[in-house]
Amino acid sequence: MTKPNMTRILRAPDGIADAAKLLKQGALVAFPTETVYGLGADATNGTAVARVFAAKNRPSFNPLIAHVADAEQAKHYVIWSDTAEQLARAFWPGPLSLVLPLRDDHGVSELTTAGLSTLAIRIPAHPVAQALLRQVGVPVAAPSANPSGRISPTTAAHALAGLRGRIDAVLDGGPCPVGLESTIGGLFDAPVLLRPGGLASEDIEALLGCPLKQRAAEDPMSAPGQMQSHYAAESAVRLNAIAAREGEVLLGFGSINGALNLSETGNLIEAAANLFGHLHQLDEMKRPIAVAPIPMTGLGVAINDRLSRAAAPRGTTK
Ligand code: TXA
Ligand code: MG
Repeated sequence: MTKPNMTRILRAPDGIADAAKLLKQGALVAFPTETVYGLGADATNGTAVARVFAAKNRPSFNPLIAHVADAEQAKHYVIWSDTAEQLARAFWPGPLSLVLPLRDDHGVSELTTAGLSTLAIRIPAHPVAQALLRQVGVPVAAPSANPSGRISPTTAAHALAGLRGRIDAVLDGGPCPVGLESTIGGLFDAPVLLRPGGLASEDIEALLGCPLKQRAAEDPMSAPGQMQSHYAAESAVRLNAIAAREGEVLLGFGSINGALNLSETGNLIEAAANLFGHLHQLDEMKRPIAVAPIPMTGLGVAINDRLSRAAAPRGTTK
């Protein structure tokens, strides 16, 4: 398939069948999930997956999450375990990705896994993603639908603003209700939290009855894509601000009001849903962004994770 000059806009639900057809042909289609918009490609088609890396300008050592419609389909690609079953029953479909050892006969492109012997797999709960994945029938590799390192997209307009002309189509299914990427759990000898996200780690720990191991910072391959500078706005970002300094625009939370407020009532679920959209809006003002303090509980852990990466010096990896 040649490089697209034009990105088609498809609207769900009518456009789902066309989106599925395009994906089966090896095209790149951005689609909604409950977390953020994903940039989808057939995970078994190396050429299609290579085009995802090119469209996003993403380093190819950074593996992609494979999306499938249900746990039965997931079991075709990864070696299942009791813990996987327990987590899948409680939290799938939903904002949780599980990293599991690959099966020998997996058929997934090496570019999807970046050559690792594991695969990150997720069952999105969004009805449009569900319908799309059922129609496609193969696993769909989907990073967030933004240029690498930039703010993640929670609307079709965000995805288009970053990738128009670089991808074949966007399937518009409205804004993403969770607004933060999935929580990633690694199921190795003990369950490890590889990335905080849209499912609070407290909920996972309550189900398993034990604390999750934290990702080993010295082992970059345990979560290869965890760039320190990520989600970068064009403007500088300053955290834990009580008030805006001269020239800054303030992103508020709770009783600290600014140009925009993540949640006036201090609700972390609402704040997560608003985070990337508000950052996109404030970024358009082309002024340094100050952000009010966000508590480190529940979804606040993932919100602070994304904000600290948005504030990190550019080009740093960790
Ligand atoms: O909510 C989400 O997870 C969204 C939607 C579209 O599903 N996707 C998403 O993908 O956030 P992406 O590519 O932006 O982030 C995936 C993260 C990266 O940090 C990558 O390094 C990590 O998952 N990852 C993927 N496969 C892995 C593996 N086998 N082992 C460890 N980390 C892995
Ligand atoms: Mg991303």
